[in-house]
Amino acid sequence: MIVLGIESSCDETSVAVISDGKLVANLIASQDFHANYGGVIPELSSRAHLQIITPLFKQALEKAQITKDAIDVIAATAGPGLIGALLVGLTFAKGLAYSLSKPFVAVNHIEGHIFSGFLMEEKPQFPFLGLVVSGGHTLLLIVKSELEIIRLGTTIDDATGEAFDKVAKMLGLGYPGGPKIQALAEKCSKPDFSFPVARTKNEYDFSFSGLKTSVLRFLQTNYENALPPEEDKPCIARAFQDAVVKALATRAEKALKNHDVKSISVVGGVAANLGIKSAFENLAKKYGKTLVMPSLEFCGDNAAMIALRGKQLFERGVVSPLNFNAFPALPENYFRKVAE
Ligand code: KG4
Ligand code: ZN
Repeated sequence: MIVLGIESSCDETSVAVISDGKLVANLIASQDFHANYGGVIPELSSRAHLQIITPLFKQALEKAQITKDAIDVIAATAGPGLIGALLVGLTFAKGLAYSLSKPFVAVNHIEGHIFSGFLMEEKPQFPFLGLVVSGGHTLLLIVKSELEIIRLGTTIDDATGEAFDKVAKMLGLGYPGGPKIQALAEKCSKPDFSFPVARTKNEYDFSFSGLKTSVLRFLQTNYENALPPEEDKPCIARAFQDAVVKALATRAEKALKNHDVKSISVVGGVAANLGIKSAFENLAKKYGKTLVMPSLEFCGDNAAMIALRGKQLFERGVVSPLNFNAFPALPENYFRKVAE
């Protein structure tokens, strides 16, 4: 079976092909020009997706050495994401499904991330503790099977990646901030100050807005115009990153104490962070679990994870209607909440 995956929820256009369970193409075109504006400009994003999607689709077929008639199933991200950006990939996929008379599967972008560990050689084992850390979402989950995902916690304000990007902006580092903060943090091994990790009513929830404010206060108190000199930036970045890592790891550790899982899988753009990786390696070792973190190619937005999720759903009988609408936000109770 050949599954085509299409992703266009934010600033990456991506087309992937899975053939007989093997990933044979995963092309990703990143819209780097948003860096000039300090963040993603939705309208420019939609236009760029529109320009690149057809050539990228053709290149993916070439890479996979197939013609479009060989495709059996077409999967595309339907949400959450930027509505105009989503519409480009989704409409392209639906048009293709219609013209080829092939089934279409609408994929939830977050579910794509959740199962992205299955693109790795060593796969998570059910049930696993899932932590989604991306630019738009932060979710702690128990993933019991391909169809049963239970939400333990989520962020009550900013997403993890959003906090990285905002603090990077305060330090004058540009967008996207995550990799820049990480690079700076590596230059400081032990800051002589720390930022607080917020408590939340639900012990599995996250909150990063207070941390962001603490960094801002620190900058305002210690530097003229809140702008630190270059030599002070590494330890500020390190203290911020350490606080984020602590917030993620303490929630995950609580979950490991209270839930019987076989693996841990940390996914999403922020899972590329080496500080997070090393903290979760320690946790996995301490609790005797296997840790699956996708490689860089599969941490950020990519169509391989969309093709994979589309394949999982299709194999369980899911086919979406061609009038399936794009949705910008994750519905409030999308993942069933565990009884507290
Ligand atoms: O999953 P993703 O590619 O897009 C969304 O679905 O949101 O995540 C993008 C986020 C951005 O906020 C970016 O700053 C962050 O991932 N990010 C990182 C790192 N690489 C990317 N954050 C921390 N450390 C990194 N190395
Ligand atoms: Zn994403």
